[in-house]
Amino acid sequence: MVRARIVGTGGYVPERVVTNHDLAERMDTSDEWIRQRSGIEERRWVTDETAADLAEQAARRALARAGLEPGDIDCIVLATLSAHAEFPGTSFFLQERLDCGEIPCFDLRAQCSGFLFGLATADSFIRAGQFRRVLLVGCEVHSTGLDISDRGRAVSVLFGDGAGAVVLEGSEKDDAGILEVRMHAEGRHARRLWIEAPGTGYPGPRLTEEHVRSGRIYPVMEGRFVFKHAVTRMPEVLLETLHAASLKLEDVDLFLFHQANLRINEYVMGQLGIPPEKAPSNIQRYGNCSAASIPLLLAEADEAGRLTPGTLVSMTAFGSGFSWASAVARL
Ligand code: COA
Repeated sequence: MVRARIVGTGGYVPERVVTNHDLAERMDTSDEWIRQRSGIEERRWVTDETAADLAEQAARRALARAGLEPGDIDCIVLATLSAHAEFPGTSFFLQERLDCGEIPCFDLRAQCSGFLFGLATADSFIRAGQFRRVLLVGCEVHSTGLDISDRGRAVSVLFGDGAGAVVLEGSEKDDAGILEVRMHAEGRHARRLWIEAPGTGYPGPRLTEEHVRSGRIYPVMEGRFVFKHAVTRMPEVLLETLHAASLKLEDVDLFLFHQANLRINEYVMGQLGIPPEKAPSNIQRYGNCSAASIPLLLAEADEAGRLTPGTLVSMTAFGSGFSWASAVARL
């Protein structure tokens, strides 16, 4: 049986560090409020870099780690909610930069769960024999789309920019690879965490001065509602996935949780009895990087020597949509 194995990981964040104190100079917030509520201390925001720049750096690092060239890739899947252009997807700009031939590429929109939805997609392609190697990227430039004013403070302090990538390759090694991915969605909550404009969800022009003035171009969130759903759905889908793979919580070496809020993850870990040393986090340094959070964690774990052959990794995310998913993989 062919399975998709993770053979390379790479992460990239912009150099510019924006601390909570920096934000407090631009809006009515404080280091204490942000730290206490979310665990975030600083995040990276782009200066003149674009989404494709971040994606390219992460992709090249993942390819180098796999000992591969861009020409060895058969397909690119890129998860994002902050695309390089309205269309086409960021993946096309990445494909141009990688100069990897006329291989198919496309963007996938599942917000903070995007990387895991992408993992399921890439895994299915590889299992079906459609492609041998897929480059999967999660990439976000949030900072240029945030409301950096008192009005936007409840959301803007949470998000950071970054990209992470993995190379997936078909393997016949019985016990290694993506073992299970489970995904869910609940569209009736789409408006609880969203950016309304520009969009085609109402008659008339997609973008007007009124959209800008009223702030409908910025993300809005019902924070407490999102929090409550995240702490329920994440353990649910994590256990569902382990069960489907006939695995137990104790079998897992590393738990990688989407980095939306340290408090959400601590709550989930408390519910499941997961010790902190098994669940590394980077939200303190990067904030919420949506589709990039989990692949950034993967790249950091790899660099720290924690992804050795046989390591069992559980990855779980929750986000806008609502969407939520979990995957379990053996290195
Ligand atoms: N700085 C200071 N005060 C702020 C603030 C900021 N950046 N943002 C909001 N506040 C204020 C509010 O105006 C409110 O004031 P009030 O009591 O006078 O009305 C108060 O702080 C509490 O706001 P509230 O939104 O109820 O805070 P909270 O305890 O729910 O924490 C979040 C807010 C966003 C940290 C929390 O709800 C959360 O993490 N939700 C989930 C977020 C998430 O996971 N999102 C991404 C999913 S992918």
